Amino acid sequence: MPEPQSPRARRVYLETYGCQMNVADSQTVTTVLLNAGYGTASRPEDADVILLNTCAIRDHAEERVLKRLGDLAHLKRARPKLKLGLLGCMAQHNRSAILQNASCLDLVAGPDSYRRLPELIEHASFDPAIDVRLDRSETYADISAAHSGGVRAYVTVMRGCDRFCAFCVVPYVRGRERSLNPQSLMREIRALAAQGVREIVLLGQTVNAYRHCEIDFGSLLRMAAQVDGVERIRFTSPHPSDMSDSIIEAIASEPKVMPQIHLPVQSGSDRMLAAMDRGYTVAEYLALVDRVRRAISGVALSTDIIVGFHGEDDRDFEATLDLMRTVGYDSAFSFKYSVREHTRAFKLGDSVSETVKGARLQAVIALQEEIALRRNRALVGDVFPVLIEGPARRGGGMMAGKTPQFKTAIFPAREDAALGTTLPFRVESVTAHSLMGSLA
Ligand code: SAH
Ligand code: SF4
Ligand code: F3S
Repeated sequence: MPEPQSPRARRVYLETYGCQMNVADSQTVTTVLLNAGYGTASRPEDADVILLNTCAIRDHAEERVLKRLGDLAHLKRARPKLKLGLLGCMAQHNRSAILQNASCLDLVAGPDSYRRLPELIEHASFDPAIDVRLDRSETYADISAAHSGGVRAYVTVMRGCDRFCAFCVVPYVRGRERSLNPQSLMREIRALAAQGVREIVLLGQTVNAYRHCEIDFGSLLRMAAQVDGVERIRFTSPHPSDMSDSIIEAIASEPKVMPQIHLPVQSGSDRMLAAMDRGYTVAEYLALVDRVRRAISGVALSTDIIVGFHGEDDRDFEATLDLMRTVGYDSAFSFKYSVREHTRAFKLGDSVSETVKGARLQAVIALQEEIALRRNRALVGDVFPVLIEGPARRGGGMMAGKTPQFKTAIFPAREDAALGTTLPFRVESVTAHSLMGSLA
């Protein structure tokens, strides 16, 4: 006799915005929901529950989500039983405004509430459910995030941020700093290695502030490097002020820890750095760059830059361009300053016009292209071990991988070039963003 059909599991469609930490959180959310008997849907049309895991870092990020909510509200009108939920940083940042403006929402859950999602979804069948309590101890350490395949996996090692840079909403939406137990992190990394993961990226908003009892971030890097099967270890984002010698030594001496550091500077003007409460001066930052470059041969440096922070004048901005020239970053992410409610800078104002911010942003992007192109050109003829990730986006029988410095290498496919293998690659030509060549 055929088995009686169990009712179809309710399916969840999850869309993620923002940084890698949100991507990693979405994997935790997926595990929580699968454990509670939900299935996953790959399109909103096939879902019983739609969740958006949101970002609040800039106004633009929030606008994108509000627009998406507007689109999804149409689906809900056609299928009133559909549940629509908002997760993540924006849920935490804008909860009251969101509930007032988005009557289509059934639930709102902040970054420390994911354990309770099954209850919240259940409860939302009767009433809108809201849980945005921040929890000083929540780390989800016992929930192994669903790995989504591929050679690289992200592992959150600390949550929250205690730095309170004047412009930044993260400490308000993610709460206080807390580090995960190193033993459970190593268990997670071993499990990922057993699933075929070759590269681990350790994550945290100030990842190098990691500390659990006697274990600091340098020791954690060394522990991760002991895990068999893991070939490469990276991390993001460190704060310049927490970049201790122990960390620099670990990168320099552990071959598995890749020579690549994202070192967000934000501005090249001491006046702006002080107004931003970044906790370092330009001279201190440059001394750090010097220490890092002397200790770690071939290290690649990238950064984040904010243009048009309140009070930034032409001289401050010129100082940022000067700093970029002095350091010579391999890549940079740049952003127009966006005033965020709750932050310390909120009350200061927003003195730089949108037009000037736009022009400064373009100038930063153009200068960075020039610098990156020059740096990449110097690599022509060099050979790097490349971890192969799969077909190149441009197609045409080309494959792509990463060098130790996290530069994209593009080369013609070859039979032995299987996903997850590391092979020597020779650079033949470059752009500002990638290296073209062939397997050596
Ligand atoms: N924790 C990391 C960065 C987190 S946010 C660090 O301290 O470096 C990522 C980047 O977004 C920041 O480095 C900053 O450049 C940018 N950012 C943060 N708040 C912003 C704001 N209000 N306006 C514009 N850019 C912002
Ligand atoms: Fe934001 Fe500063 Fe914390 Fe980075 S260190 S997350 S910029 S407050
Ligand atoms: Fe955005 Fe939250 Fe990350 S505000 S940048 S998703 S921590």
